[in-house]
Amino acid sequence: MISGPTGCGKTSVIEQILARLHRPAQSYTCGASTEFMDLVGQWVMVAGDMVWMDGCLTTAMRHGHVLILNEIDLVDPAELANLNAVLEDAPLVITHNGGEIVKPHADFRFIATCNGNGNGGDGIYVGVQRQNLAFMDRFNVIKTNYLNPDIELDILKKVTPKIPNTIAKRMIELANKVRSIFIGEGDDDNIELSVTFSTRTLIRWAVLTQRNKGAGCPLSYALDRALLNRCAEKEEVEAIRSLAIGLFGDSFNPAENEN
Ligand SMILES: Nc1ncnc2c1ncn2[C@@H]1O[C@H](COP(=O)(O)OP(=O)(O)O)[C@@H](O)[C@H]1O
Ligand SMILES: [Mg+2]
Repeated sequence: MISGPTGCGKTSVIEQILARLHRPAQSYTCGASTEFMDLVGQWVMVAGDMVWMDGCLTTAMRHGHVLILNEIDLVDPAELANLNAVLEDAPLVITHNGGEIVKPHADFRFIATCNGNGNGGDGIYVGVQRQNLAFMDRFNVIKTNYLNPDIELDILKKVTPKIPNTIAKRMIELANKVRSIFIGEGDDDNIELSVTFSTRTLIRWAVLTQRNKGAGCPLSYALDRALLNRCAEKEEVEAIRSLAIGLFGDSFNPAENEN
């Protein structure tokens, strides 16, 4: 299980490692309505006949793929408890398919990603559920966090080569300030943020900045679209903008983009 904040690269690191190892994988993103049977399979109509179709778990167990289940802590713990046997190398019994028994292939592996640590979260991530202790007990848990600034700089250099290094460095600095405030570790205790600055958001900000170089202030225009327009309160927008002005100077001018 890989646990860490949203958009820090949990899913991509697994997918990239597996790609380099030439290991086939099934990647499935869970939600609050995910049920165990969604993973196992279903009967579907094909040319007038009912045909059984394996879900990602069954496919992975049968053919020796790696199953990556994303955002696992959004799922109802009672549904996940159905995985307990499978997580201990037991075969999968598909009652809906005449009691078929699927023995786990020797190469079958199971990796989960989540934002919390199975304890129901601290209110930061909406919808995170407290998971069943017996389920959590079956995992090796790796904690992750956002990448080091120098690695994020390498990423920005690759995706937006036209943005000068000095600017990219400040963009990453802003991202890290927002991340600290989001988890309640900022310098200013009075402000609470409803959004954070994932690597995904950082990349989006950079790409939009590079693409909208004709805007009055591309950095500010792009930041609105990448992050600020998602803020719940006006005060958050103002707080993040004033951090940006502190880093980029008066050239960071939202007014130039109005209209
Ligand atoms: N090491 C990295 N190099 C390049 N891009 C990365 C790296 N880590 C994460 N990203 C990018 O950051 C974004 C978020 O990654 P993702 O794996 O979806 O995060 P998570 O699963 O933690 O929510 C993706 O757009 C991904 O391409
Ligand atoms: Mg993910």
